[in-house]
Amino acid sequence: MGKEKVLIIGSCGQVGTELSEELRKIYGNDNVISSDIKKPQSDFWNDSPFEILDVLDKKRISEIFSKYKPSHIYHLAALLSATAEKNPKLGWQLNMDGLFNIFDASLEFGVKRIFWPSSIAVFGPTTPKKNTPQQCVIEPNTVYGITKFTGERYCEYYHRRYGLDVRSIRYPGLIGYKSEPGGGTTDYAVEIFHEALKNNKYSCFLNSDTTLPMLYMPDAIKATLDITHAETDKIKTRSSYNLAGFSFSPELLSDKIKNHLPDFKISYKPDERQKIADSWPESIDDSFARKDWGWQNQFSLEEMVSDMIKNLKERY
Ligand code: SER
Repeated sequence: MGKEKVLIIGSCGQVGTELSEELRKIYGNDNVISSDIKKPQSDFWNDSPFEILDVLDKKRISEIFSKYKPSHIYHLAALLSATAEKNPKLGWQLNMDGLFNIFDASLEFGVKRIFWPSSIAVFGPTTPKKNTPQQCVIEPNTVYGITKFTGERYCEYYHRRYGLDVRSIRYPGLIGYKSEPGGGTTDYAVEIFHEALKNNKYSCFLNSDTTLPMLYMPDAIKATLDITHAETDKIKTRSSYNLAGFSFSPELLSDKIKNHLPDFKISYKPDERQKIADSWPESIDDSFARKDWGWQNQFSLEEMVSDMIKNLKERY
């Protein structure tokens, strides 16, 4: 892939960890620069350049951009839904000022392309819940959702006004076995697998029937790479694309897990995250992504469950 250099910001999170691995395969280890506010212990992070970066530190951003001259940026650093509710001011600051800092440095240093994820959290209680369309009423009522929606408007604005090639998808809840989720409302759908394999039981922080849109991590990584690598004329939505895999409730997921682990038991103790989940859609219409840049998910719910259990079994 020529002389391209990729910078991942927030690379040690749930998406960044898996994306770093895939990007190294495409561009080569030396051309993938990982960065995060802290460097984890794992040797994985010693195999390619790593920089400590706080996205609120403009001077440091400038140093890193001038050192590596990245052509592609994946800007993943954010406070997720549950964490941002606990610290609303920091949620706004990190998610918005962080985005502006990366946009401005990208313009200054001539970055070719940026990927920035939005979320189903942009939708709110007044949005149609089922098969939520790309364009509809969008009135988010969480800090995270408000920052993601505002960020989407600015993606479109920076593209239109300054020609910045920023691309985005609205991630649903993401499920994977290689990395831990960090402070979201959909985190239960990962925790449940670890607890099922370790203890054969799980106490869920959402109600049994709370259906949410979800996606298996290999599909999320594929979507991220597909949209970033797509020809420019294919990207017609410059805010953020709806994206979906499948939808399930904790009860349905636990039934699928029981097909593999018949003694598994789930109980329900909803906490403050229930309100957040209640404001989000149950299912998503992602036909724009399918039509414009050929998005197609590969894993069904059943395939995801089998694959998660198979891989985590080896660990426990
Ligand atoms: N998984 C995210 C969250 O729960 C949604 O984008 O916050």
